[in-house]
Amino acid sequence: MENFTFWNPTKLIFGKGQLEQLKKEVPSYGKKVLLVYGGGSIKRSGLYDQVINCLSEIDVQVFELPGVEPNPRISTARKGVEICKTEGIDFILAVGGGSVIDCTKLIAAGAKYEGDAWDLVVKKAFAREALPFGTVLTLAATGSEMNSGSVITNWETNEKYGWGSAVTFPKFSILDPVNTYTVPRNQTIYGIVDMMSHVLEHYFHLEENTDFQDRMCESLLTTVMETAPKLLADLENYEHRATILYSGTMALNGILNMGYRGDWATHNLEHAVSAVYDIPHGGGLAILFPHWMKHNLNVKPERFMQLAVRVFGVNPEGKTATETGLEGIQKLRDFWSSIGAPARLADYDIDDSKVELMADKAMVYGEFGNFTKLNREDVLSIYRESL
Ligand code: NZQ
Ligand code: ZN
Repeated sequence: MENFTFWNPTKLIFGKGQLEQLKKEVPSYGKKVLLVYGGGSIKRSGLYDQVINCLSEIDVQVFELPGVEPNPRISTARKGVEICKTEGIDFILAVGGGSVIDCTKLIAAGAKYEGDAWDLVVKKAFAREALPFGTVLTLAATGSEMNSGSVITNWETNEKYGWGSAVTFPKFSILDPVNTYTVPRNQTIYGIVDMMSHVLEHYFHLEENTDFQDRMCESLLTTVMETAPKLLADLENYEHRATILYSGTMALNGILNMGYRGDWATHNLEHAVSAVYDIPHGGGLAILFPHWMKHNLNVKPERFMQLAVRVFGVNPEGKTATETGLEGIQKLRDFWSSIGAPARLADYDIDDSKVELMADKAMVYGEFGNFTKLNREDVLSIYRESL
């Protein structure tokens, strides 16, 4: 196990009716609040009215930035930065899924940065300061509600990158499973794939003596796999929504990956695909992850075997580690297909015409991945196998 420091300053407020906590949390950060939200789901669900009612009971002035896109765009973040600077915003409240929260992180840091916010995304500058912000999460998937990461797209240049800093953790996040009842079936599935992929990204590392971490990862995966079909059969079931919501947060808030570094190549591969085609992140991962796994099975077959045996119940008797691992990969593929996740890039009408362009995007910082490094040939081969 490597040395590590664990630090996560986000206050997690979980459960039914917890929106009321806004009245306690928000006033300590100032009087001018920018409310950031997406394309209208919170208006349709009634959550917008509830948030406005809460804020009207405390002495704050509310400004709004609606219309954050799925795969949030730099153009929208710039609008938010502009509002913060001209109105002297004290606090930002993100109400939505990962996209709304990620956009809010860039607005918060951009408001304290003199140049263009895109500099922070492309690492031309580093965010040392940010406005305080909180979140009301409406979709279980990214973990953005309790981490400092943010993923922003520049649609003009077809670029999509992750960035983050110690100043971009939310001050608090309110997670009420009821606010996820209206998440449509397809987005629920993408969220499930995304959180499982976060755990898999952690899981593929080369560090020794991570027994406890391994078992926490395996436990999260088995819990999500047991719960997913039950939830998909009953989308307004509080207990199942709660299990998935909690799992999504724990999958990417630093709890699972102390003492080692995960791989993260598949996320880079997916961000390059969605930079070019604007597909849902979880859908892209469902397609790419099994192919990344097959491509790298030989790096450490024992790791794949452990996953296959402990999570997918593969019987290893009389089989090599590679054979067992391969069976596990197939079971992952089968599971994701069984819940309705896509299996091929063709499911999004993606053919081989822009494979080279996607590889350019993925390779922008050079070879990548921590379990093993992917070069351009590897990247092209994984994309082509995924067509
Ligand atoms: O925009 P609205 O109208 O709110 O609709 C959204 C959107 O269309 C809808 N939705 C959200 N909550 C809903 C709801 N619809 C009905 N009822 C609700 N309660 O769902 C759609 C997708 O929302 P989005 O926020 O885009 O989804 P998600 O949370 O999966 O976020 C995806 C983004 O996060 C990035 C992805 O790359 C992608 O850009 N990621 C961020 C990470 C992070 N910050 O740590 C890590 C992830 O790996 C990921 O890369
Ligand atoms: Zn993800």
